[in-house]
Amino acid sequence: MARIAVIPGDGIGREVVPEGIRVLEAAASLHGVPLEFEWFDFASADYWTRHGTMLPDDWFDLLRPYDAIFFGAVGWPEVVPDHVSLWGSLLQFRRGFDQYVNLRPCRLLPGVPSPLAGRQAGDIDFIVVRENTEGEYSSIGGRMFEGTERELVVQQTVMTRVGVDRVQAYALDLAARRPARHLTSATKSNGISISMPYWDERMRQAAERRPEVRVDQFHIDALTAHLVLDPGKFDVIVASNLFGDILSDLGPALTGTLGVAPSANINPERTFPSLFEPVHGSAPDIAGRGIANPIGQIWCGALMLEHLGQPRAAAAIVAAVESVLTAGTQLTPDLGGAARTEDLGRAIASEVARVEAG
Ligand code: NAD
Ligand code: IPM
Ligand code: MN
Repeated sequence: MARIAVIPGDGIGREVVPEGIRVLEAAASLHGVPLEFEWFDFASADYWTRHGTMLPDDWFDLLRPYDAIFFGAVGWPEVVPDHVSLWGSLLQFRRGFDQYVNLRPCRLLPGVPSPLAGRQAGDIDFIVVRENTEGEYSSIGGRMFEGTERELVVQQTVMTRVGVDRVQAYALDLAARRPARHLTSATKSNGISISMPYWDERMRQAAERRPEVRVDQFHIDALTAHLVLDPGKFDVIVASNLFGDILSDLGPALTGTLGVAPSANINPERTFPSLFEPVHGSAPDIAGRGIANPIGQIWCGALMLEHLGQPRAAAAIVAAVESVLTAGTQLTPDLGGAARTEDLGRAIASEVARVEAG
């Protein structure tokens, strides 16, 4: 029995998570995968309003025994400032559970038009491996001389040898298992003269261990341009926390909509639970209208099943998503249709059974 902690969070997180569970249940029952879900209301603006904190004091001990965390989105800036809600929840999970790899696949799916001319399904298929526990996301720094003309703000980037090596090694190993065997490292060592040359130096060292993988590097500014002009030439991209964050919104935009993009925050050693969440946020601009695209969340279910050692059930979900998109009858507005979140979720759940039968 795999025990899953479910945390819907805020906004459209609450609308897409039930669809993710609906599809997970369909795939799990067909493949005889026993899953047990427990729902939690923390990591949300509602919880903040009631308790004045984002998480209960014992969140670490409470969540640690679960096999995985199925997460929606957090952030409701009208009620609680984003840096408070995010540093009080999601970023705590990533660090506390040492989920140092954030895997973000970007694939152009059938039936989804890319904003780039002339691209077909499969033409874009790369995966961002984002460092997820250090780098530019550090809380080291501060403000001085506040309110004066000499006001000064500093925020440090932290790169540890362990932190850089482990994410680069993970990305290399992943690239070695893919047919293209190509790894691109995102850097900015021309301008950021201390941390980024270190990142490059460790990358060069790591690459020696895997001569079968072609490793190249691009400065992040040029990389964003290359990704727009010729995304098909990328396979695995490894990036620091901030660069990976930026690339993992750019990628889904190239593949049609942020609404389909999944992410897996992985603790590869399995000392702690990994966390599966869509790349998108709580989308206050469309929340409450029942029109959010649930595919990012549903695809997260597939990544979670893979992590739990259930590749067949995971593949059934991906196949069902592709089949429903190809049919094109139940598309949410971001995909150019008029279907509701629940319609698309239900269509994928019933397709899971049909794909299997056929
Ligand atoms: P966002 O991802 O929530 O939304 C960006 C745009 O994409 C919006 O126009 C939104 O309507 C659209 N969009 C996003 N997901 C969609 C979906 N499933 N279907 C259709 N359209 C979708 O980013 P934002 O507006 O910058 O942030 C909103 C809030 O979410 C903020 O509080 C932010 O901090 C938070 N956030 C949380 C996470 C997370 O929990 N991992 C990620 C990103 C942003
Ligand atoms: C993401 C989000 C988060 C991040 C924010 C909400 C803190 O953008 O998961 O990509 O920057 O990691
Ligand atoms: Mn992001």
